[in-house]
Amino acid sequence: MSVSREELIHAATTFGTPLYVYHAESIADQYQKLANAFSTLNARFFYAAKALTNISILRHVRSIGCSIDCSSVNEVKLAIHAGFTPGQILYTSNSVSFAEIQEVVSLGVSVTIDSLSNLEKFAAAYGGSYPVGVRIRPNIMAGGNTKISTGHAGSKFGIPIEQVGSLQELVEVHKLNLQTLHIHTGSEISEASVFAKGVQLLLELADLFPTVSIIDLGGGFKVPYRPDEKETDLDAIAEEVRKAFAFFREKTGRQLQVWFEPGKYLVAQAGYLLASVTVVKPTDTICFVGVNSGLNHLIRPMFYEAYHHISNLTHPKGEPYPYQITGNICETDDFALARMLPEVREGDLLAFHNAGAYGFEMASSYNARVRPAEVLYTNGQPQLIRRRETLDDLLAQQIIV
Ligand code: LLP
Repeated sequence: MSVSREELIHAATTFGTPLYVYHAESIADQYQKLANAFSTLNARFFYAAKALTNISILRHVRSIGCSIDCSSVNEVKLAIHAGFTPGQILYTSNSVSFAEIQEVVSLGVSVTIDSLSNLEKFAAAYGGSYPVGVRIRPNIMAGGNTKISTGHAGSKFGIPIEQVGSLQELVEVHKLNLQTLHIHTGSEISEASVFAKGVQLLLELADLFPTVSIIDLGGGFKVPYRPDEKETDLDAIAEEVRKAFAFFREKTGRQLQVWFEPGKYLVAQAGYLLASVTVVKPTDTICFVGVNSGLNHLIRPMFYEAYHHISNLTHPKGEPYPYQITGNICETDDFALARMLPEVREGDLLAFHNAGAYGFEMASSYNARVRPAEVLYTNGQPQLIRRRETLDDLLAQQIIV
């Protein structure tokens, strides 16, 4: 289920461009797919808020029964603002000050710690009085590209698996209530085998820590970006987890919960960036299409060489031609090279698909161009959920001396 071409055109006409448009029902559908695939397990899903933190999106995510994963104290505060209870909030950060962890503990949410150094400080402050999780670096290479791979042996994330001896000592000395073992090996993981490997590894560790009752496998489920790509096989992952948990239960008598932190899986496909064509510039080699957006609004193609499907909403039946789709920022900000599109004319409206995750959220006001407005379609009704930024917004925090 998605927003129709007519609905996208309607939103652009009503609210102007550039514009982010999201579709509430697609988020709910994706959540339902997760819930169905893992229904035989004791599973919980925490939406990785970093993908898109608009409060109306967070409220929608809460309304469909999903919990929330936050990567900063401010994301935790946004989640509370959106109505999540502390029991529904998980905080998984890295390289943060202990003061931030203390603040999050004071809010009563679940906390996952990513370094021995912070765990030592946590132990000194709370001992076993507050349950805690630890992020393990499993030394597994996974994910769509190196920038979004987080579990490999050179990664900054988590406590390296080879330091598990020190972790054990810390837990035993301070009688920590180690509740959760966590890994997040990367984003856009297409192979179920990566999750199978992760769960095996965490179960071996769980054996060493009798208080552990939760295995958190992080996010990273892949959604198709290119037309020929496939979604991660959730049923295959569920089956691997089910088998591994059953074996563990037989061996130890312990019944575990599994947690996931999906970001892209829930919101990527639900979002579109709409931009208007400002300039068509034919040259000897390629025809450039300039739009009223750029890397300031959707940085994924430039930062990760990510593919985003593009459609020409206002001339869908035009003669196909290869175009270089580019932004209006003062450096090279190509959205796509040699992309075949129905003939593009100045004034046409283009849609960049799969822009819901890490789209608006990574936007900036580079070149003093304002960030787009955001619209949420629910039951066929578009509602503005963030007004377009203005020059006054850009000036608001500045102190003129
Ligand atoms: N859990 C943790 C601890 C994470 O660090 C992340 C993402 C997730 C869950 C959610 O991963 P997802 O399900 O969305 O793949 N900006 C990049 C993606 C960075 C992901 C960072 N961490 C992109 O646009 O591709």
